[in-house]
Order: sequence, then structure tokens, then C-alpha cells
Amino acid sequence: MSPRSRLSLVSCFIAVAHAGLPFPSFPQVSIPNTFPQLSACLSAPSFFSCENTTSIADTCCSPTPGGLVLQTQFWDTFTGFEKKGQLLPKNSWTIHGLWPDNCDGSFEQYCDLSRQFDPAPSPAILPDGTVVPPYIGPGVDTFVKAFGRADLLAFMNDYWVSQGSPNADFWGHEFSKHATCTSTFDVACYGTHYRKHQDVVDFFDAVVRAFHQYPTFNMLASAGITPSNVTTYTLSQLQNAIKTQTGSIPFFGCTTNGTVLSEVWYFSHVHGTEQFGAYKTIDSTTKSSCSAAGIRYLERTRTSEREVR
Ligand SMILES: *[C@@H]1O[C@H](CO)[C@@H](O)[C@H](O)[C@H]1NC(C)=O
Ligand SMILES: *[C@@H]1O[C@H](CO)[C@@H](O)[C@H](O)[C@H]1NC(C)=O
Ligand SMILES: *[C@@H]1O[C@H](CO)[C@@H](O)[C@H](O)[C@H]1NC(C)=O
Repeated sequence: MSPRSRLSLVSCFIAVAHAGLPFPSFPQVSIPNTFPQLSACLSAPSFFSCENTTSIADTCCSPTPGGLVLQTQFWDTFTGFEKKGQLLPKNSWTIHGLWPDNCDGSFEQYCDLSRQFDPAPSPAILPDGTVVPPYIGPGVDTFVKAFGRADLLAFMNDYWVSQGSPNADFWGHEFSKHATCTSTFDVACYGTHYRKHQDVVDFFDAVVRAFHQYPTFNMLASAGITPSNVTTYTLSQLQNAIKTQTGSIPFFGCTTNGTVLSEVWYFSHVHGTEQFGAYKTIDSTTKSSCSAAGIRYLERTRTSEREVR
């Protein structure tokens, strides 16, 4: 658009506004933000998580103890909820979650039962005997809507697709099981003006941002690795295709005795917060569950997919 036409659009807008004609007005109250209050981090040292040489004083500034961050994805061939319109995005893997492993690969789960939004906790009883009660309130999708984030909700319904349960149940599970153990999403990090569920929406935004860093389908396809019900691949073919792009070997998960590719986990350390920081990939700390060779990367059932662009 030339400067001239832009100018005329502006003057047109002003003219309409002055005339008091019906015109899509700006919202009176703007949509509340969902970011944490990080000004206390400015005077603290910054580093990649799990690489700090001194102890982390303010856990809002860096995920701790869960500084080994995993962005996890699924390759499913069906959802089981096709009749409800829950379909997989063509030419893309789907989001599983964003997990806070401890630096040694162990992990915590369901760390804050006051933020328990998982209708079907798994495990329902934690190793220390704590019972995780099933959540029966409104789905976490309603939290996203309440913050005016139809854009985020649409993306999640396209790319964060559950198998065997409604999407919102799965998102609630991921938040309550994992994000409550990720210190940068602690309620205290949002300051004194915390609005309920700000942390939930902020986490979903962070998951989507992390997912964008690892376009698995395209990275594999660009290396000639595409879904096929005929061909098989070796584990090193899969690993090399990703390593040449991210610098590290992710975890590949397979079902059916290591023969059917079903998931990928990207491991990283993060500088600053999971919300805004830079992710530095590192090699998986977990051994692949796929066989060395003969791995099937199955084509999806045609009626389980849809075009999402
Ligand atoms: C980094 O900080 C955490 C939290 O204070 C601490 O537990 C950990 O020991 C520190 N790591 C190193 C290498 O000093
Ligand atoms: C996996 O392999 C074992 C031993 O070869 C076999 O008994 C079992 O049925 C296999 N499982 C599946 C799911 O194929
Ligand atoms: C590929 O094979 C899987 C597993 O048998 C099946 O579910 C899927 O429908 C097949 N896809 C196509 C396009 O034939």
C-alpha cells in the first residue's frame, strides 16, 4: 500500500468517526494481559535453566527445579472423537505439552491442587499418597474465552488435539499435571493484580510458542520422511533429520514393540522464562522406545484429518 492510500484511509476513518456513523468501535475496556511480573528478574543474573552456577533465588525468573524443558508432540492416526469434529491437522504433528523435568530427568506432577483442572487425573494418586481429585468445573476452554482469546482457542483446537477425550479435558490435564510444577507459571509470579486463570492462558500461549519452534512434520518431510503405509524408516534417519535442524537428538516414541512412530519430545534448557525465553535444544535424556529399523510412520485415516491453514 502506498503512503498516499494509507493516508486517505486514515482520513476516511477520522471522517466517519466524527460523523458519529456506525463504525466498529474499539473496545472500551481492553482485554486483560496474561503476562507475569518479571521486574524483580532484572537485577538477578540470567542463564540457561539447569546451567546456573549459583542457586536461583527468584523462581519466577527461571523454571526451577523443572529446568529441563520438554516440548512434546504426538503423531496420531485418528482421534476417536471424529464425530464431534475433533480432527487432526493435515501436514502437522499435534501438541502434547510443555513439561518441566528436573535437570536429572526425573519430574514432579500435580504440584498445586488449588489449580486442579484435570477431569481424569493420571495418576489419581501421587507417589507420596496424595489423592488428586477429579475436576468437575467448566472446561479450561472457557478460561481462554473469558480472556477474549478466540485466536488462541482456535489454534489450540486445530493443533492441540486429543485422542480419546475432548480437547479441553486434555488441555486441563496438561496444565494441572505439568504447568503447576513449572515455577514461572506460579500464581505468585503474576503479582498483586493477578486475575484468576491468567496463568492458564499464559501457559497455553507459551506451549503454542514452543510448538512453533519444532515443526516436526516439515522437518521430516524436507528430509524425505513422509507418512507411508508401505515404507519403513530407521531411527537414525529420523534422528538425523531433526538434528540437522535443531542441533540435538529428540526422543522418538513408538508403540507396538517399537515399530509404529507415535511421539517426539524436544529437550531444551531455557534462558529466562518458558513464556519468553530462548530455548536451547539438548539431546534427549531418555532412550528411544523405537526399534533401530523397520519403523512405520503411518498415514492417517483420511476422515480423521482436516486442512487447517
Ligand atoms: C540452580 O538453582 C537451583 C535452585 O536454587 C539449585 O537447586 C541448583 O542447585 C542450582 N544449580 C547449580 C548448578 O548451582
Ligand atoms: C511384542 O513382541 C513380543 C515378543 O516378540 C510379542 O509376544 C508381543 O505380542 C508383541 N506385542 C505387540 C503389541 O505386537
Ligand atoms: C494407514 O494404516 C493405518 C494403520 O493400519 C490405518 O489406520 C490408516 O487408515 C491407513 N491410512 C491410509 C490412508 O490408508
